[in-house]
Amino acid sequence: MVTVSVPGKVHLIGEHAVVYREPAILAAIGMRIAVGARKTDSVRVSDREMGPDLEWPVRECKEAAEKAQRLWEEGNKKKDFSGVFSLVKGSNFKKVAIGHVLNKLNIDSGISMGFSGNIPMGSGVGTSAALAVVIAKAVSEVYGKGLDNLQVNELAFDIEKFGHGLPSGGDNSVCCFGGLVWFKKGNPNTIESLKGEVPYNLENFVLVQTGKPVKTTGELVQQVRDLDPSVRESAVKAIGLATQEMRKALKEKDFGKMQALINLAQRNLKQLGVSTPEIDTLAEAVFKIGGAAKLCGAGGGGVVLCYHRDKEKLKNKIRELGFEPMEVELGVEGVRVEE
Ligand code: MEV
Repeated sequence: MVTVSVPGKVHLIGEHAVVYREPAILAAIGMRIAVGARKTDSVRVSDREMGPDLEWPVRECKEAAEKAQRLWEEGNKKKDFSGVFSLVKGSNFKKVAIGHVLNKLNIDSGISMGFSGNIPMGSGVGTSAALAVVIAKAVSEVYGKGLDNLQVNELAFDIEKFGHGLPSGGDNSVCCFGGLVWFKKGNPNTIESLKGEVPYNLENFVLVQTGKPVKTTGELVQQVRDLDPSVRESAVKAIGLATQEMRKALKEKDFGKMQALINLAQRNLKQLGVSTPEIDTLAEAVFKIGGAAKLCGAGGGGVVLCYHRDKEKLKNKIRELGFEPMEVELGVEGVRVEE
């Protein structure tokens, strides 16, 4: 039995804009998905969160993954990924993800995977990316393929495409490599660790779950793509510039500036139509007590990242609004094989 674990993530700043080749700063968070995996004849998946255990013949998983690849390619031509999105819904995501890794690593036998973890599902904090990374790494470990993190990240990016169409690749990269990452989509993507520039721990952040988004990341990214280009472009540009400023602020430990930039990002994400009334209320209340808050990931609900130099004051305000603050560590280790 091999156990592999992977953290979730938050964007300190830069989500959505990163899809349009602006930079983003992402942090791996101290909430993880773990998988215990071993060789079997078929593909077996158990996950207490997702309901009863599932089992598929290896061939069925590999064929489902081939179909996902075909549908993704067709979707990419039409710029409409609804075909592949409906294939990978629910537990089929794991079926296709495992099948894809088996295909890519030329493995014809199965694997049993038991998932557990404490990352809020489908809420902007990287569950799909973490799942993609943990599956790629666990298959590699169980079958002694010895993939390095770059290779694991590439497979995870393929899987993310099945779920989100044309993701930036930022989410899977920070889950895989961990720490605090400067990410820019390109050919190739820029994935830079900010450990040298930001050698201290980012403190006084908490996460707040405002409710599971109704739309998926892929749908929300498409919704932003469908906006009037002038509305989209000005918000994307503003977030991009704020991200450049954020890098400087972090380097200089200028937390006042960092706060202002988080609030600016939230205003622009609202402009992009991916905030919700609950997120707006929370963000305004945190702003009024001198803190900062922004939605995480694709938005449309989900987790909000909140900051205040007085964390107790922040937590009290969040509770007063009827939410529960979740303590979170930022910049943790990426994918790892557990002892
Ligand atoms: C989702 O966590 C982040 C987005 O920027 C999409 C992406 O980067 O692929 C909304």
